[in-house]
Amino acid sequence: MSAEHPDIKTAPIVTAECEKTFVDFLYAKLGLVIKKHQLKVLHDAIDKGCRLFGHIRWQDYYEALKHDDAASTEMEQLIADVTIDESYFFRDQNQISWLRDHWLPEIIAQRRQQDDLSLRIWSAGCSNGQELYTIAMLLAEALPDMDEWNIHLLGTDINADVLGNAMRGHYSSWSFRATSDSMRERYFCSQNSGHTINDKLRHMPHFTFLNLADDAYPSILTQTNAMDLILCRNVFIYFDKAVVDRVMQRFSHCLLPAGVLMLGASDLIASSMESIRLVQHGDIFYYRNSGSVQPCEQTAHPPASSMQEKPEIPLKRHSIKAESKQRADLHEKLHDGHWHEALNLIKTMIKQQGKTAPLLQHQAKVMANMGDLKAAKTLCDESLQLDPLDKHSYFLMTMVLIELGDEEGAESNLRKTIYLDAQFIEAHFQLALLLIRSGQPENGRKSLNNALELARKAPPEDELHHAAGMNFKRFVEILEHEMEMYADGTQVSTDGY
Ligand SMILES: C[S@@+](CC[C@H](N)C(=O)[O-])C[C@H]1O[C@@H](n2cnc3c(N)ncnc32)[C@H](O)[C@@H]1O
Repeated sequence: MSAEHPDIKTAPIVTAECEKTFVDFLYAKLGLVIKKHQLKVLHDAIDKGCRLFGHIRWQDYYEALKHDDAASTEMEQLIADVTIDESYFFRDQNQISWLRDHWLPEIIAQRRQQDDLSLRIWSAGCSNGQELYTIAMLLAEALPDMDEWNIHLLGTDINADVLGNAMRGHYSSWSFRATSDSMRERYFCSQNSGHTINDKLRHMPHFTFLNLADDAYPSILTQTNAMDLILCRNVFIYFDKAVVDRVMQRFSHCLLPAGVLMLGASDLIASSMESIRLVQHGDIFYYRNSGSVQPCEQTAHPPASSMQEKPEIPLKRHSIKAESKQRADLHEKLHDGHWHEALNLIKTMIKQQGKTAPLLQHQAKVMANMGDLKAAKTLCDESLQLDPLDKHSYFLMTMVLIELGDEEGAESNLRKTIYLDAQFIEAHFQLALLLIRSGQPENGRKSLNNALELARKAPPEDELHHAAGMNFKRFVEILEHEMEMYADGTQVSTDGY
């Protein structure tokens, strides 16, 4: 971080009004609740921010923050100063033991039996990456044939600094206080007065910016969908009940039917929700998605008798008004992650309107969110047969192939998408991630830059086509963070933490 601004010798006094303004702002923008004992930390952060960025009055600092996005330097500094990124490998031995001795063996055996060698795990609020690399180590220990598996490890956070550290994978000894020497020696090499995770494990996860207080997940675009396991440990300390409830609700839509959510031992929420049950196993607690049939399933179906008696309503008789209402309903269900209800509505719409490429694409998205990637792929094929020049079908096929681990097929479909529409922002973004993953960081950065430039020109409040709930303003923030992370993402940091 830059040195203090030369013109600012003394920062403004943090008044009661200033404190309230910043507390409200952090809550509205990030869902962060600043508790009484954290006020001193907030005061220091405001004081530091004013000095660093040359604001004589706190009001000017606040105005700058208010008009910037979460990727601005001012905002990043404030986030880094008011959040605690404390983490270490193998944190909470009880939880780790349960994952290693129960959850992993069970799901691995189940997947082998189903001939589906795939796993999807998300560390939400991943800090410097210790939690996700712990999982990577457990997987390496449990899977002698790990190369045969399609493993999606996702780490997200709002602090861009910690995401950069996570990508570099270099840690001081303090991060190993609960790690055995043998594990450290097996998966890390000692260098630059610290330890760096080996290349194989370092390349497994994808780290990206995601604000849990936003409603931009689950989404196939950020690959926050169809999770087997979500770890969100020691993050709820920042949130109040309203934000926690919202986040829990969203997590339940991100999980596969039997998926598991694990919170930190001190983050427990007493009550189970309808779609997610609190389960106790010895000393530990976790939540399991009940995968229960959504209550509205029946309402989306016409009653059996009427189905038999009435013929399907042909397209021309189905009023435009009714259709646009259905589209709005569908959008809402997709946005809220109500997959079963969305699926029923799509089926109804197909009966009424016939199969169209957009409806098949929606159905493919729902199937992907419910974890049935083969069905999603078949639906993309069907949609392409209906309209071989539909860029959205190629794009969805790309996303499904990425999830199936077919990166070559994904890249080929992505190139077709961009060929059909050179301005397709989401396609440039995915191409960037594919190129970076496949060891072409320079080309990846170029594609990221293309995506960013296009996204900056898009109307900020408009939603992305493939991510219900995410508008271009937020997407620009994500892209700016990605640019920053990959600017030096291949280097190894020398400063330990
Ligand atoms: C104490 S660390 C926990 C790290 C790790 N999960 C663990 O248990 O070791 C909390 C992390 O949550 C992140 N965080 C706080 N608010 C967040 C939000 N609204 N969205 C995403 N991450 C957030 C912080 O930046 C920080 O890195």
